[in-house]
Amino acid sequence: MVSANRGTFSRLGFVLAAAGCAIGLGNIWKFPYRTYEHGGGTFVLVYLGAVILIGAPIMAAEILMGRRTQQSPVGAFLDLAKGITGGKLWSLVGWLGVAAGFMILSYYSVVAGWTVFYVGKCLSWSIGGFAPEQAAALETDFVQGFLQSGTMQISFHGLFMLATMGTVVLGVQAGIERVNKILMPILFIILTFMVIAACFAPGFGEAMSFLFHLGPVDASAILDGVGQAFFSLSLGMGAMITYGSYLSREDSIPRATVMVCGLDTLIALMASVVMFSIIFTVPVAERGDTFSDSAIILFTTLPRLFYGLPGGAIMSPVFYLLVVFAALTSTISLLEVVVAYFIDRLGWSRRKATSIVGAGIFALGVPSALSLGANETLSTMKPIEAAGAGFFSLFDYLATNWMLPVGGLLIAIFAGWFLKSHLTRDELEQGHGPLATPHRIWQWSLRVVVPAAIIWVIAAVIGGKTFT
Ligand code: PFF
Repeated sequence: MVSANRGTFSRLGFVLAAAGCAIGLGNIWKFPYRTYEHGGGTFVLVYLGAVILIGAPIMAAEILMGRRTQQSPVGAFLDLAKGITGGKLWSLVGWLGVAAGFMILSYYSVVAGWTVFYVGKCLSWSIGGFAPEQAAALETDFVQGFLQSGTMQISFHGLFMLATMGTVVLGVQAGIERVNKILMPILFIILTFMVIAACFAPGFGEAMSFLFHLGPVDASAILDGVGQAFFSLSLGMGAMITYGSYLSREDSIPRATVMVCGLDTLIALMASVVMFSIIFTVPVAERGDTFSDSAIILFTTLPRLFYGLPGGAIMSPVFYLLVVFAALTSTISLLEVVVAYFIDRLGWSRRKATSIVGAGIFALGVPSALSLGANETLSTMKPIEAAGAGFFSLFDYLATNWMLPVGGLLIAIFAGWFLKSHLTRDELEQGHGPLATPHRIWQWSLRVVVPAAIIWVIAAVIGGKTFT
């Protein structure tokens, strides 16, 4: 069942919305930390390779499947698998995506809530002054005060879910496209200013040589690079199938793919330049072991460093606002994947789907919100050793290490081997012109290169390597 009026993005609207979906906490928090962990330039290079060889072909495949069928993931698979023996089974991949969207949003919104809290915190520091005692107590305040307060965690998670629902309920153009069209340019402008400011920071030179210095490549950097590409580009769960279903026939899928992959990578690099310039500007003796706890450096180390720098009082609230915007444009897309399923497949109204699904995701996020110290059992549970302790880590582990790579593998196999060549070629050429050779390269990369790379990553996960 396809609802009569699903909505369509304008050309710019699609690029901004899909970039908004991709650009998020993955770029601003995960990417810089991972780059640090893997010694800088080597990881950047591996990541670029993963985006080009694995990410871009899957992104084009997802957008193509969405636009062709004008449906969200479950319907898209059902439609395209018609005539294939056992074709209905493919819709399970769509289901996996809807489930992944539900799960990822439930804990992502908890972290997104922290960013809102920090905009407020930084404003109060910037106005009221940031005393050295506050800097010293920052980590304790965050870990023992904020994270362990169930009320705070649930309130900010709820607030973020409400903002997300408030956008999605307005629909594809009036909600999603409009919010992305406002927030994404602001995000680019703020980040550009911050990069310019970073160029004048004493730590800039060290940051650049760190980011572009090549060292030996180890296997774990390659695995992390692939995992990061999936998460950062929002692939493997049908988010791009859903957004692709709102792409107009006149637009070119290859062009949109290049734009979105390029913008996502650019923002990750820009965020890294800013963060490392700040970090390297502060002398080692003062900054200490900056990355001792990677998950919270954005909230414990960075604010402290900001207030040690000239102009930091202005930059810090603005920086956290930028992170809020990046997170919101991603949570919108996560919710839309699930909401679109209920609208397309069950015929629900957008309002009904948004409120029921949003409430469900909020409820599912509560155990994550309480698993950062507020509730003993939820914080210490460890049903899967590799996932680490706590409900929050368990969800992140299952979604990032399993659902996205498995989803991506199946999407690649389906698009590469099961979709008819004339159909995929026709879609890739719409709004673009003849693409005989690129189409063949794309098809063979989905048939062979992408599955081989993902199977290798999955084998590594089974072998005990985690990349959350
Ligand atoms: N790509 C987002 C980020 O980098 O933060 C996370 C994400 C959003 C993953 C939407 C999956 C998704 F469907």
